[in-house]
Amino acid sequence: MNSSCIIVTGGAGYIGSHTLIELLNNTSYRIISIDNFSNSSPSSYDRVKQLTSRDFETINLDLCNETELKKQLSGINNIEGIIHFAAFKSVPDSVADPVLYYHNNIESLNNILKFSQEKKISNFIFSSSCSVYGNADALPVTEETVLKKAESPYGHTKQIGEEIIEFFCKVNPWFNVVTLRYFNPVGAHMSGKTGESPITKPNNLVPIITQTAVGKNSLTVFGSDYDTRDGYCIRDYIHVTDIADAHVKALDYITQKKNRKNFSLFNLGTGNGVSVLEVIRSFERVSGKKLSYTVGDRRKGDVVAVYANNDLAKKELGWKPQYNLDDMMLSAWKWQLNLGGES
Ligand code: UD1
Repeated sequence: MNSSCIIVTGGAGYIGSHTLIELLNNTSYRIISIDNFSNSSPSSYDRVKQLTSRDFETINLDLCNETELKKQLSGINNIEGIIHFAAFKSVPDSVADPVLYYHNNIESLNNILKFSQEKKISNFIFSSSCSVYGNADALPVTEETVLKKAESPYGHTKQIGEEIIEFFCKVNPWFNVVTLRYFNPVGAHMSGKTGESPITKPNNLVPIITQTAVGKNSLTVFGSDYDTRDGYCIRDYIHVTDIADAHVKALDYITQKKNRKNFSLFNLGTGNGVSVLEVIRSFERVSGKKLSYTVGDRRKGDVVAVYANNDLAKKELGWKPQYNLDDMMLSAWKWQLNLGGES
């Protein structure tokens, strides 16, 4: 095993746990995951272990607690890089409680950056989101697209996070960052043995669809009167394992010094805009189940449509999404069946 290590914050979470799997299976780094299980549980680590050939270390830590962070992390040496996932991610929750979102997402980032500075850890990957684009003037969005006002506090915390990091990079030229703007990560590990498992009720479309199909939830589609091809919101859904794979490639990109500048930004989407109705149809196709749902009002904080131009990530990182919408929905469905509850 490589003696240098990678710290993954939020490693028990949805994208974090899928990235742990890819890191453990495709690199030789010692891997340390930090999580405080604010929206995940330790069983997520057990599932990662079942899907990988080697072990990793875990630390239970709230990154907003700087004293505790120092106490628990300062003894770790040989840190090659940090992949920073840990954050709250619900658009509606952020609208309901903005202060919670600004506190958690910004404070944890500041603390982990301070730690990177003190330890001179030179490689950093930041989880951002396509929500930074707001309601963009033109689609698909490229990394050059001018950011509009964020539609939600969640999106705003990602805009602020990107800016903090960009300023930090200017004064610390030794610090190399890849910021990844995820579009809508969905689906589960293709084995169906792990997937999204928030401890609170999910707000995201795909887990609500699969829970509805087993009678554990009921789907309300938020708005069918948008100015889009079928009236429903358009998003760029991307398989979570494609997102995880991009992190392995981004890590290689900065650790192998292939980056042209010390602050790089990449869109991670498939490039396909898909409506909520099309997601439902895909689910019905792969599961063979008819989904019952109601159409309700628009949700506060939603952008109308957004999808990616992903050329830059393909060119610079050598990354390419492998999975299509049906793969996303089938893997999510397999995971739901694994969790049980089909009525
Ligand atoms: C947003 C971000 C995404 C981020 C995610 C994290 C945007 C454009 N995308 O996703 O980058 O990864 O937050 O949570 O900001 N919907 C329903 N009924 C439901 C739930 C959702 O109709 O019960 C609809 C929404 O209105 C939306 C679509 O499904 O049109 C996707 O919603 P959701 O899964 O919550 O993700 P976003 O908020 O788009």
